Amino acid sequence: MSARNAEAAAWTDPDSLDLAALSRRDGEKWSVAKDGVLPAWVADMDFPIAPSIRQAVLHRMDTDLGYPAWYDESEGGPLGAAFAHRAHRRHGFAADPAHVRLFTDINQAMQVVLQLGTAPGDGVALHTPVCPPFEDTIGKLGRVARTVPIRMRDGAWRLDVDHLRDTVTGRRGGPPCRALFLVNPHNPTGRVLRRRELLDIAALAVEHDLLVVSDEVHADLVYPGHQHIPFASLSDEVAERTVTLTSGSKTFNLAGIRCAVAHIGVKAVRDAVDDHQGLLFGQVSALAVDALKAAWTSADGWLDRVMTVLRHNRATVAEQLPPGVACVLPEATYLAWLDCRALDLGEEPSDFFAREARVLLMPGSLFGSEGAGFVRLNFATPPRILAELLRRIRGALGH
Ligand SMILES: Cc1ncc(COP(=O)(O)O)c(C=O)c1O
Repeated sequence: MSARNAEAAAWTDPDSLDLAALSRRDGEKWSVAKDGVLPAWVADMDFPIAPSIRQAVLHRMDTDLGYPAWYDESEGGPLGAAFAHRAHRRHGFAADPAHVRLFTDINQAMQVVLQLGTAPGDGVALHTPVCPPFEDTIGKLGRVARTVPIRMRDGAWRLDVDHLRDTVTGRRGGPPCRALFLVNPHNPTGRVLRRRELLDIAALAVEHDLLVVSDEVHADLVYPGHQHIPFASLSDEVAERTVTLTSGSKTFNLAGIRCAVAHIGVKAVRDAVDDHQGLLFGQVSALAVDALKAAWTSADGWLDRVMTVLRHNRATVAEQLPPGVACVLPEATYLAWLDCRALDLGEEPSDFFAREARVLLMPGSLFGSEGAGFVRLNFATPPRILAELLRRIRGALGH
């Protein structure tokens, strides 16, 4: 079967994406998985790209790869309209296309926004566990990361708003916070924050005049029974203090194209970004813009099929985890946050699974001290490969 036919077949039967083909991939996820080791660590999916995205990139190459003609920021650049339509259509968020600015990735957007919207020495609250670069990045910017743990209560992961309030006001020590970095849906727990929780956080943000940076990159990977609510959609007052970040990296598996979007509701930050854009932090590529535009305008059918496979895989994880490994199934994302603390697997359970199961998982400790004893399993892979991954994990534990 040709590579293209194999990709097409992968959508009627995701298991037709075979291990040999995946092993030849040279990206971060698969290139470190040698000699039959199975990678389930970094958050890339193994599924083939949406056909409409592929077409859009090919079309760009066949037409004009000269300097793009989208320097007018007042309209939100080339992705303003696509972002706003999608935010409204899928999440009921009346985003303003003219508030959209482009960056190469979410971490860069977050850095620029904090650099321009806060001062050195300011506290920035964020919840942990948190995706590896963010806490570090805040420190490197000369701001003070003030962490608030997400804890298990009544069988669910919850953000403690009282703890957040004490952190923001400086009552827990350290400087008061000028900004809050929120990840919703949350990586690694997969929690989708409820409206009540978001309203409590928003009230706090208004009371303490916080700039809120809301990373919503997993917003389209939500399972039935849950609903993503964009933070900026809560009210106009909240929108005016919120920067919403997203990209195509997770939902459309486009991390390699290097393009993220910031919807900047805070006028002072938007103006400051416009003063710097093109000088300090460069510009995204025309290929990336076309890929993301195609993703947001004409890949919903592809995404529906991905979600069908992910729902199936999520159920498989629930059924086939070995005794002793605890997991609250994610409400969104294709990441399962596995609690291995009841097992005696040494300091770093991911080392145990790499050695004994030949499966690469993300070490929980990378997500902060709350992650000690956890591993993160990426289940966005063909069902047959997931079954093998779980078989190896069970086998390593003697089941
Ligand atoms: C919460 C969160 N934000 C940002 C990213 C990275 O996104 P990007 O590659 O678009 O910067 C990830 C990747 O896993 C993530 O989980």
